[in-house]
Amino acid sequence: MERVTGKKPHHFLRRGIFFSHRDLNLILDKYEKGEPFYLYTGRGPSSESMHTGHLIPFMFTKWLQETFKVPLVVQMTDDEKFYFKDLSIEEVERMTFENMRDIIALGFDPELTFIFSDFNYIGQMYRVVARIEKAYTASQVKGCFGFKMEDNCGKWMFPAVQAAPSFSASFPHIFPSGNRLCLIPQAIDQDPYFRLTRDVAPRLGYLKPAVIHSKFFPGLSGSKGKMSSSVGAAVFLTDTPKMIKDKINKQAFSGGGATKGEQLLLGANTTVDVPIQWLRFFLEDDELLEKLQHEYMLGRLMTGEVKKVLIETLCGIVTRHQEARRNVTDDMVKLFSSVRLMGPAKGAQ
Ligand code: TYM
Repeated sequence: MERVTGKKPHHFLRRGIFFSHRDLNLILDKYEKGEPFYLYTGRGPSSESMHTGHLIPFMFTKWLQETFKVPLVVQMTDDEKFYFKDLSIEEVERMTFENMRDIIALGFDPELTFIFSDFNYIGQMYRVVARIEKAYTASQVKGCFGFKMEDNCGKWMFPAVQAAPSFSASFPHIFPSGNRLCLIPQAIDQDPYFRLTRDVAPRLGYLKPAVIHSKFFPGLSGSKGKMSSSVGAAVFLTDTPKMIKDKINKQAFSGGGATKGEQLLLGANTTVDVPIQWLRFFLEDDELLEKLQHEYMLGRLMTGEVKKVLIETLCGIVTRHQEARRNVTDDMVKLFSSVRLMGPAKGAQ
């Protein structure tokens, strides 16, 4: 990555937060030879506000877009949330709009970024979706996602909808000619979708998309797995500094000693400590992070002091995000989601 881009890799790469991939080497080899690619990522809008975990793939995607100067498509899977959750179409559409504002606030390039809702864009990519649906069998989809016969048909057909943006043929207004390679940043939970996609791609005459996976950002309680929006175990992008401070001070699982004396004597277990794990995601300064971990492990720092650094770091990120979000107008959402000539298609004009 460093050789190809001439840039220090993002701290998510340096620290193994993005820890696995398929065919990223191929993307980089081709890029080095002058063959560009495009980026695809997405969001399932099931809550008004995104949480800090959702930021991870988007922050990394932004870095990739800035570094490689390539087009990005962002799929808002409003249909997915309608099929999988107890939500009306109207509710999901409202959340989609709010989440789009959050994504735009992260600073993606308007000249190179297309953010679309499935309900609105599906007609344009339906031919690609249909080809994929015809290539998937119900038993493949069941094997991958574990659906039951009682599950609604929307769920069974949705994997083809999430697969379609992996193929540049879904975006003729961006890629009018030829197959273009795609790279999909995501957290590891999304991988089943793209294993199926990669399976059928050659049969359909499309290029297999490359993928890069991040680990999960843990919940405040430190439990393993996906940080859920529906439980109070997350910090949301709408939280106030006071809420962030209270959540971290009261709920963040500590790997430090139970008492000051114990911490001085035994030090902290930094592998289970949530504040340290969160700082690995959000504190960019490698030296400071290393120092904090070291001192904390040796018992020279107290949990409260580590939490204080985390609170400052996170409040900074969330407050800056809220300021940026206030400046995202309805017209900007319209612009980012409008079907317009972009990237190579615009260049060819
Ligand atoms: P969704 O809305 O559940 O999550 C959006 C993105 O955030 C990632 N993610 C996390 N990353 C780190 N730590 C966490 N705790 C955490 N929780 C969620 C997800 O992996 C995802 O990348 N079906 C998808 C939407 C989608 C998509 C895509 C995602 C459509 N096409 C292509 C990635 C790539 C969804 O519901 O994501």
